[in-house]
Amino acid sequence: MKKRIGVLTTGGDSPGINAALRGLGKAASGVYGMEIIGFQDGFTGMAQGLTVELEGSAFSGILTTGGTILGTNRDRPDRVIIDGVAKDATDQILENYKKLKLYALVCIGGSDAQNSAYYLMQRGLNVITLPVTIDNDLTGTDTSIGFDTAVEVAAEAIDRLHSTAISHHRIIIVEMMGRETGWLTLAAGIAGGADVILIPEIPYHTEKVAEAILQRSHKGKRFSLVAVSEGAISQESVRFFEKARLANRRLRQGEEQSEIEQRLGTIEKRAAGDTLHLANRLEDFTKLETRITILGYLQRGGTPSATDRVLATQLGTACAALIQEGVFGVMVGTRSGTVVTTPLAEVANQTKAVPLDHAWIQGARLVGVSLGD
Ligand code: F6P
Repeated sequence: MKKRIGVLTTGGDSPGINAALRGLGKAASGVYGMEIIGFQDGFTGMAQGLTVELEGSAFSGILTTGGTILGTNRDRPDRVIIDGVAKDATDQILENYKKLKLYALVCIGGSDAQNSAYYLMQRGLNVITLPVTIDNDLTGTDTSIGFDTAVEVAAEAIDRLHSTAISHHRIIIVEMMGRETGWLTLAAGIAGGADVILIPEIPYHTEKVAEAILQRSHKGKRFSLVAVSEGAISQESVRFFEKARLANRRLRQGEEQSEIEQRLGTIEKRAAGDTLHLANRLEDFTKLETRITILGYLQRGGTPSATDRVLATQLGTACAALIQEGVFGVMVGTRSGTVVTTPLAEVANQTKAVPLDHAWIQGARLVGVSLGD
């Protein structure tokens, strides 16, 4: 009997998802003779039984396309939104898996996909995942599909912003995605020759950033490019929240204390990536005109780079081979160019931050980039 596998994409989209689907689909159907059922819009579609039969031809012509042919959203099995109402759809998802007689479920995406897949694995499903996110924040893989493309897009943006910053003698701050990690900003910042790179792993001193910019001015360079992660946070903010937490622990107890603790966490997240505030402060310190560009979803859209297409094909096809061998409960990643698998238990609910001694950080410092510390 033919093995039937389900596949869905979940979480933020990323260039290379379709290339990964193609690699998986072509190998699974063409080489291993499996049947493939796609679910529309991630777990919402799986809960509602919204399926698409993916024949061999469905995987043609999508290697170079952006987005996901299956659709996606941020829903989780225990929290899908149907007709505007959030509900726990775990039972429906488990039922549909059984009803469709699936041999395995492939979840493609970033941290959302890994967390949800682990959740379903614990409930007895044969799950396997592919790492696709521009953030590159997943443990268990050197790099994730989509990261290379996003770095290219962001680096090109910095290149373009350079000429206008030079012409107007301005500071231009470019804000990039990446959630709580600075991989994207660091790589794009280095590639684009940013003068300052601010990442969440290194809380910055606004004065030191301003000093670095003023030093450039004194050397006759009357412009500066600042690459900042959406999750970067200033030392001032870190100190403020530390004090607020201490005071909360001293003054309150029990439920009230944990409620305030939680609220502080939410406010702290909002304080991170306050690029407008950073721009105002830098303008005050340096007296140089300052402008902001938020790259946002540009980094996630469009055609994947050649490197991402190669990686997606390598991991997608490897995933099909692993299913054929009966390997489940893992994420299929890459280490030094070879395919590796990591148990979902070690990938879910983890974040791969940029290590402070990473060679990219050292390299950036050695070419004179200020990291704001
Ligand atoms: O996880 C990818 C990512 O692009 C992050 O870099 C960003 O913070 C987030 O998604 C944006 O999410 P959404 O698409 O839900 O607005």
